[in-house]
Amino acid sequence: RKLVLLISGRGSNLQSILRACQSGQIADTEIVCVISNRAGAPGLALAKQAGIPTEIIAHRNYASRADFDAALRRSIDAYHPDLVVLAGFMRQLTTPFVTHYLGRLVNIHPSLLPAFPGLHTHARALEQGVCWHGATVHYVTPELDAGPIIVQAAVPVFPDDDPARLAARVLEAEHQIYPRALAAILSGHCRLEADRVHWSAPF
Ligand code: GRF
Repeated sequence: RKLVLLISGRGSNLQSILRACQSGQIADTEIVCVISNRAGAPGLALAKQAGIPTEIIAHRNYASRADFDAALRRSIDAYHPDLVVLAGFMRQLTTPFVTHYLGRLVNIHPSLLPAFPGLHTHARALEQGVCWHGATVHYVTPELDAGPIIVQAAVPVFPDDDPARLAARVLEAEHQIYPRALAAILSGHCRLEADRVHWSAPF
């Protein structure tokens, strides 16, 4: 099977997914392209080192979100991926784009959704004084960070946490659950049907 990954930055989730493809945790699957909307994304170097084709589609070069998403879609579809994986991709996608990939487009978000959609999740969690925080893998639907939830991991929040410490704890959990969720989807054990997530085998 084929994955296309979309990134904007560091690429640590890309790395955990790549390792899972290499080790067979995600079986018979290859990352066929990594696309970034930022030329300087460090994750691009990680992909290149691994011999994965990369593309830069800079949102700044497009007059509108619709134009950007159309270009993105052309590039992605040329690879005929089974799944499109958002791995730290920091652009909101338009409804036509999301609809085109419905059930084949997933994201990881650094909070226990529906708490803290959007940005700065760790600082907001600390401000609210929650005792548990975490990460969510979900199918992408047009409403931001609101798609059907595939899997979540919770981590404790400690009294002396700052956003960076908390983010690091959440990121470790992300690296555990994202490859496992992708493996479940690609093996057909998890699928989206009529806006709901269906499992035919335990996570
Ligand atoms: C992760 O925290 C992810 O949940 C969020 O953006 C961050 C990306 O990190 N969407 P990385 O680029 O995968 O290291």
